[in-house]
Amino acid sequence: MHECPFTPPYPQPLAKKPGLIRRFYLGWCKSWLDMLHGRAYTMKLGVTQLPAGRAFMVNDMALVEQVLDDAAQFPKHRMVHDMLSPMIGNSVFVSNGEEWAHQRAMVNPAFVHTNLKRAFPLMAAATRDMIARMRGQADAAGGRAVDVDPLMTHVTADVIFRTIFSVKLGEAEAEAVYRAFGEYQSVSQRAHLLRLYRLPGFGLGRRARRLGQRVRAVFAPMVEVRVAQRRGERRDILDALLDARHPVSGAPFTADELVDQLALIFLAGHETTATSLGWALYLLSECPEMQERLHAEIEGATGGGPLDYEHVRALEGVRNLYREALRLYPPVGFLPRTSERPVTMRDKRIGAGELMLVAPWLVQRNPGNWACPHAFAPDRFATPEGAEALKEAWIPFGKGERICIGAGFAQQEAALILAEVIRHFRLEFPAGRRRPEVVARLTLRPRDGFTLVLRPR
Ligand code: HEM
Repeated sequence: MHECPFTPPYPQPLAKKPGLIRRFYLGWCKSWLDMLHGRAYTMKLGVTQLPAGRAFMVNDMALVEQVLDDAAQFPKHRMVHDMLSPMIGNSVFVSNGEEWAHQRAMVNPAFVHTNLKRAFPLMAAATRDMIARMRGQADAAGGRAVDVDPLMTHVTADVIFRTIFSVKLGEAEAEAVYRAFGEYQSVSQRAHLLRLYRLPGFGLGRRARRLGQRVRAVFAPMVEVRVAQRRGERRDILDALLDARHPVSGAPFTADELVDQLALIFLAGHETTATSLGWALYLLSECPEMQERLHAEIEGATGGGPLDYEHVRALEGVRNLYREALRLYPPVGFLPRTSERPVTMRDKRIGAGELMLVAPWLVQRNPGNWACPHAFAPDRFATPEGAEALKEAWIPFGKGERICIGAGFAQQEAALILAEVIRHFRLEFPAGRRRPEVVARLTLRPRDGFTLVLRPR
């Protein structure tokens, strides 16, 4: 089955569950992935006592479905709001219950702009610009390695920027977002750890708010200009959000609410895709023969001409590569929920308000769900067992009512970007360099980027 069987980097599971102090040390210096012990990958429902309360880890598909399919009984935990609100306020990603339902009714019409056929030309234009930037960097590097992480952030931010605002993202803005959001991720992770240990915040909350303002400042001025010059057009997401009305009160979004929703769509709409693309390119760089096979697939589909919408849909090999990258490195590593009312799961009584975690990282590396779960094997999806597991235990976009709105958009965009990179470059993992280390921030990031050699074809 495996054309290039290898086990890409992941933190070696600990022999036994760490104590409270070791857990804090690992969380502060590394991330929660490094706190996992071997049994965490196979147990059905684990529980950890933390100073702020108990945390239940749900890692059995029947229980995962029970939790994710019932958003009324298992709404998002308060920590989602605490971690993200400096960036995205109380927008549709973090709200719950009736408030969430009303917000969803207001933002749903905006997502017609993420319709796959409609968005394709914007994606293709942003991807062409990215290939030009990559060529420039590859030429300047003259055979030395370049970090593809900022390149992936730039292109995915550009795609979503064009979809929201109908204009392309400038170099300086792309750089500002990359730096501020990167820093925000580590600040927010540490602030969250301190909260779980009931320790003072040491000013991290203030820093998070400042960084949030920096990202919001990239696009807030565009909103002001559009509001001032509105001519009733419906070109993009921003126009649709300006038209949105509350289903009960009939009120439009306030200026702050509008920026919250835009910030959410902008961040949810690019960071996740960028990180997963980085992992996919890294994985590919370790497999030269797979690159050649995918290159032949792309050339066979296009006959050497430009890649269009239908071609991208048909590139099963490229799509499987991306599915496997999302399985091994799901950008959203865990989904925090709480129990609205007390509930018994297996033999454990879970009280109202306690923390429950569904971790795509664990579900997708659970040997009960996947054969050779830590191995990189995109062709697994072409087998009946792999196709079944894809339906049952592949949850990088979540599941149930709160499933990602942008899943189709992200997969089309990623397949297009990967196919264009494969067409234009051979990727090599630099000899002698340490493999990327995965750390869990808000998304699963590489500690020091994805440094690869790009050889123009
Ligand atoms: C590879 C790329 C992406 C991944 C892995 C991803 C993952 C997720 C996950 C796991 C959730 C659910 C979180 C939970 O249940 O707690 C989610 C929700 C969401 N995503 Fe994505 N996402 C991606 C791309 C996108 C894109 C491109 C957009 C917008 C165009 C988007 C917009 C949203 C929104 C608005 C929600 C909140 C839905 C709700 O609660 O009503 N995402 N995403």
